Amino acid sequence: MPNVTFLPANMTVIADQAENLLRAAMRAGVHINSSCGGAGVCNKCRILLEQGQVQGEALPEGGWKACATFPVSDVVVRVPVESEMDRKVLRRPTARKAASWIKAQGEVTSWKLHPAVRKHVISLPQPSLQDSVSDLDRLKREVAQGRLQAISLEVDNQVLFNLPESVRSNDWRVTVSLMEGAKKDVRRLIRVEPGDTTGQHLAVAVDIGTTTVSAQLVDLRNGDVLGEASNYNPQISYGEDII
Ligand code: FES
Repeated sequence: MPNVTFLPANMTVIADQAENLLRAAMRAGVHINSSCGGAGVCNKCRILLEQGQVQGEALPEGGWKACATFPVSDVVVRVPVESEMDRKVLRRPTARKAASWIKAQGEVTSWKLHPAVRKHVISLPQPSLQDSVSDLDRLKREVAQGRLQAISLEVDNQVLFNLPESVRSNDWRVTVSLMEGAKKDVRRLIRVEPGDTTGQHLAVAVDIGTTTVSAQLVDLRNGDVLGEASNYNPQISYGEDII
């Protein structure tokens, strides 16, 4: 079975002669544009043959259609720049310090940050012989009696694992993270931390696109973007569009 090497990535796979070069590239982890998903109609999967022999569909402008071309011998092929994903999409400038920027423009005066998760500091009374309810009931009771009294609480099971330690390690003062859900008066308790941690309230916003996956670290206290990263979504080898 022939070896197929893809340049410039310099990745080699052993290919079946019945396997087209687009499929071989997918297995090699090499991206070749393929808007039609290998159906043979978009002509975006052009590759250049540098060594060896192939059979299949040659393109009039030179090169071969990867989805319709098969290796006959060991081959070295080059993926030209236009057949690669435009890497600039990964470096698109984003609105750094988003909230500050919006405020600075002065165009959106009534813009208000409304994060789905909010932190609240709660001080719990210590247990006694007269007050021996469980830690969770104690917490729920305080939430119901405080300024959050209008809401009812759902509790993530994960919270229960650390609850006894969290409430005791800072003199029964904790920060609870409550997440809004579909129901207006219901909050989900997703985290309990010892002490007051409201000074740090971060979230990661993830945009899963068909070609790229981007993530931003956001300060939920003011909406500032603290960091960002993006990379190709590995599914692009199967087609850039989901139809
Ligand atoms: S022609 Fe569309 S992937 Fe080859």
